[in-house]
Formats: sequence, C-alpha cells, structure tokens
Amino acid sequence: MDHKETLDSLLHEERVFRPLPQMLIEAGVNPQDLRAARELAEVDLCSYWEEAAEELDWFKKWEQVCDISDAPNYRWFSGARCNIVYNALDRHIETVNKNRLALIWEGEPGDSRQYTYYELYRAVNRFANGLKALGVGKGDRVVLYMPQLPETVIAMLACARIGAVHSMVFSGFSARLLRERVREVDPRVVVTVDGFYRNGQVIRLKEEVDRALLDDPAQNLESVVVVHRANVDVNMDSARDCWYEDLVRHERPHAPAEIMAADDPLFIMHTSGTTGKPKGLVHSHGGYMVGVHRTFKWVFDLKPTDIFWCSADPGWITGHSYLVYGPLLAGTTTVMYEGHSLYPQADRLWNIVSKYGVTIFYTSPTQIRTLMRFGHRYPEQHDLSSLRILGAVGEPFNTEAWLWMYENIGKGQCPVLDTWWQTETGMIMISPLPVSVLKPGSVTRPLPGIDADVVDAEGNPVPDGKGGLLVIKKPWPAMFSDVIGDREEVMAHYWKRIPGMFYAGDVARKDEDGYFWIQGRADDVLNISGHRIGTAEVECALTKHPQVAEAAVVGVVDKIKGQVAKAYVTLNHGFVESDDLHRELKEQVRRELGPIVIVRSIEFRDELPKTSSGKIKRTELG
Ligand code: PRX
Repeated sequence: MDHKETLDSLLHEERVFRPLPQMLIEAGVNPQDLRAARELAEVDLCSYWEEAAEELDWFKKWEQVCDISDAPNYRWFSGARCNIVYNALDRHIETVNKNRLALIWEGEPGDSRQYTYYELYRAVNRFANGLKALGVGKGDRVVLYMPQLPETVIAMLACARIGAVHSMVFSGFSARLLRERVREVDPRVVVTVDGFYRNGQVIRLKEEVDRALLDDPAQNLESVVVVHRANVDVNMDSARDCWYEDLVRHERPHAPAEIMAADDPLFIMHTSGTTGKPKGLVHSHGGYMVGVHRTFKWVFDLKPTDIFWCSADPGWITGHSYLVYGPLLAGTTTVMYEGHSLYPQADRLWNIVSKYGVTIFYTSPTQIRTLMRFGHRYPEQHDLSSLRILGAVGEPFNTEAWLWMYENIGKGQCPVLDTWWQTETGMIMISPLPVSVLKPGSVTRPLPGIDADVVDAEGNPVPDGKGGLLVIKKPWPAMFSDVIGDREEVMAHYWKRIPGMFYAGDVARKDEDGYFWIQGRADDVLNISGHRIGTAEVECALTKHPQVAEAAVVGVVDKIKGQVAKAYVTLNHGFVESDDLHRELKEQVRRELGPIVIVRSIEFRDELPKTSSGKIKRTELG
C-alpha cells in the first residue's frame, strides 16, 4: 500500500509534547474552556454554534441555527441575512482596526505592498463597482484565474460584496483545465493577470486564458479583466478584455454590501474525487463565515498583535479559508507571498518571517520536507523569534518533518499544529489547539462541535488502534452547502455510503487517548504535495494520447511530495514503447492537468489486470 512508509512512522511514534507553561497562561482558550466547549457542543450543538455566530454581525438574525428537517441537506442559520465581506471589512473600519494592516504582500522579485483595513475596503469597493459596471450582479459567477496577488484577495472580496459567486482556478492549472471550469461554471467575467513571477520566470497567464477561451466556451462570458503585474505584452481583445487599472480608476471607493441569505452561495471550489471530473462544491456566506471565524480564532489562539501567514495559494480551499477569509474576519494581518519558496534560495520563507515579524505560520508538510533538505543552516541565518505558533495541513505530516519544524523553526518554543480538514468541510475539523498535548504525526482530537469517528464499512466504530474510515456524524456550519452539477449523485457519494454519516474518503485510526492519526485516502485519489488529484483524471489525460489504449495510475511514496503518480500503460496496435513516447506522455499529463501533477514513471504493459466486469485492478499494480 502506498501509504505504508508514512503509516509505519506514525505507528511507531510515541513521544508527547506538552504545552509550555506560558502558553497555558496566555492562551485565549485554555484546557478548561476547551473542555467546557466540548461539553456544551455535546449536549447542545446548536447553542455552541449560536454562540460562535453571535461574535459576528448580521443584518438579520436566524430563525433556526441548523435546520435538520431535510438531512443531509442541512441548512445553517436559516432565515438570517448577512454578508461575509461586511464582517471581513466594514466591521473593522468602524473600530481601531481601521488603520491596522490587513494585508502584507511580497512579490517574488522583492517588491512589497501593504493595505490597511481601510485601504483594502476602498480597493474592494472600487473593484465591486467596476464589476457592477461590467454587468455583474447578485448570483452571477466570476472565474478568478489568478496567482498570489493583492488583487486576487480584492477580487474575491469584491465579488462576495456584491453577491456574485467567485470560482478560483489555481494559476498552476493548464489552459485546458481552465476551459473546462469556464464551461462548467459559465461566468460573466474572468479575472486574470498579464503574467506573474514564479521561480525567477514570468508565467504568462493571460496567454493561457486566450487559449482557454478560444471559440467561446461560456455562454454568458462578457468580459476578461486583466491585472497588470509583470508588464509583458498581451493580446487584448477590444470587445472583451479590459485592464483592471482602467476599470477601477474612476470608480467610487464605496459600494454597499449586498444583503445575502445565509445560505446564498459565496464561492465554488472544485475538488478531485474518484471520477475523471472534479466536483464543484459551493460554500455559502453564513455557515462558512461562522465556521471559519471560530476555528481561525481558536486553533491559532489569535491575539491583537499577531501577523498571520498561511503559505497556501488562494486557488485552494486552505487559501480561501485561512489566507483570506479567516484572518480578515478576525481583523488580523495576513501575509501573502507571490513566488517560490526556494527563490532566490532556500531561505526565502524565513526571510519573510523575520522581515514582517510573522507570529503564526501555517503551511504544508511538503513545504517543510522541501526546506528540510537544506538543513538548519538557512533557518539559523534569520531571526525567527517572532514565531509563536506553527501549523500544517493537506497531507499526512510524517514525524521527521514535524520534529524538524518543531526544533528548527519553532526552536522548541512553538506548538506545531497538524490540522485535518477538506474542501468539503470548509474549516478545520480535527486539530490541536496551542494548549493541547501534541503527538507528532497525530491531528489530535476533533474540535468542539465536531463529531468525528473511525468506523468500518457498515458504520460500526472500530476498536482503538485499528484502521477504518473517517466519518463525521453531525453537521457543522462550514460544510459545503450545494453542488454544481449532479447534486443527488454528489450528496449520495458523501452521505449514503455509510448512511447518516459524512464519508470523508480518508483512512484513519484512533488511539487510546482518542487521538486521530490520518493514514491517507481510502479512495483512488492521490495526494501530491497536498493537492488532491483523482487517478482517473491522470488516466484520462494519458488515454488522450493517440498511441495509448489504456492507462492505470497508482500513487507511490515520495520523500518530499508525499505521493507522486506511477502510470501503467498499454499501447494501441502497431506502436512500441520508446524514450520519446515516455517523455511525450509525461508532457501530455503536464499539458492537460498542469505542472503539479507529477508522473514519476511509466511502465508499458501488454495488458492491465482486470476484474471479471472489466475494471482495472489498481491494487495489483504498484
Ligand atoms: O486526505 C486528506 C488530506 O487532504 C484531503 C483534503 O484535500 P483538500 O480538499 O484539497 O483540502 C486540503 C486542505 C484542507 C483530506 O481528505 N489531508 C488534509 N489535512 C490532512 C490530510 N491528511 C493528513 N493529515 C492532515 N492534517
């Protein structure tokens, strides 16, 4: 099994790390508070989340905290009216936060921009008015194909402010994938950049957009807005394209926040499953806002002086929830970096930490493993003493990498929080708090209000220490609220497999302390550097090659990226394997899906093992 190495290292880990006394004194939520919150949530889940919701501003309060009458179509805060951007911006500019830094951005070449809450508010309003001038209104969709830039945050918030639904396509994805998303999402506007900096090169994103939009895949697409970033020449279609700067120049810096129903859509985020086509999940204003706000403040023990840095790209759910919405809802300063962590050398991240005095750093295990290779020399060259909390998400955090981060980045002074959650959950679900006792490799216990368990295929709890399927038994506010496409099928996938429970698609075990250890995916989904990729998507990309008859893809362990893909391929009659074909197929996957999908090796076979019904038996490969 592909997770074996990780699993072995997790099974043999017995060390525990207790919180430092100072943390216990200073934490906003101490172990007693945590216990009380768990108890409240156990006896009255709605009261627990209602209390969390009361910390935010609503135009109209809810009639019901959670309507379970049509389960699993749960409705959170039904009857309520709100706008997440009102809570992320307007709420703060009426307080001392008005002049606090909301966003610190650093470009890869070393340029930097900063926005106070008031400045961000004005920029968002200008673009909100610009979008309105392009005809975008409540319920319209806007695709954002953007890298890590301030305008990316501005565009997300501007859409949400006027009730439009943003759908971000990761800037590392290919034109083909963008085209598919545009066709499915059917936006009125696409927002992009001329180009951006990545690992010393300029990535020309607008060119990808032009390629993706050849012969108009979207019925309602009217405009493409292009942000100036890299000053590269681009083709501008005068009937369709406009520069961001021209659009906002004469717009007023005030725009009312649209009054939204709590379950009105906020954004669409695609995620890979077992089919060849990623699912478009929808998150909405009310429940998502409450879940992300509460978990952000509690997990990271937020203080007024914090500078928070989540290194995830906003193109993924982690970036949405904990680079943009969580920090801004909480009124903290969020840091964003455009480029590559090894550019110009392997100390870039530590340079940023020390330069801006980052206090909380949230990243991925792959990022840590990548930097670990360079040893402790680089972290030692920088003053990392501002850090007080470290965290990671997205894939199993092996003990070695956990300990390296704890010792070399946190200097034994910062808790390392391994947080488990998903695109589906919208918010952190299983995670320690800074006051928790930590076991490297474990995501510890579910947060208050989260009823997680490990069960067998019939839904019966499995004994401690034994592997099983990770499920969530009760609803939570940031759960995806809708689906674009076949809702019935998607809901059945998550809720009918084990009736009455949310099926997360992960294998996990619990230990005698109730600590969860996530072992990997239970389905045909790869986790490459924390990015979810369905094996079927890679197979589809391979079989598009005219010489390929069939392809089967499995995950293999990679020391840095956690997993990479290995492909088994049969060729059409008359073709033979060659080094050129090998290279061509790898390039084909890259072109179809983007550079994040790494095919380590390709094995050519005469035939692939099949079940009697003709399905490929992936378990017999690898
Ligand atoms: O397999 C789990 C893994 O990432 C999957 C969710 O991927 P995605 O929706 O892209 O969201 C990633 C970031 C929230 C999960 O089903 N995963 C996430 N966190 C962890 C993890 N695996 C092990 N440990 C984690 N802490």
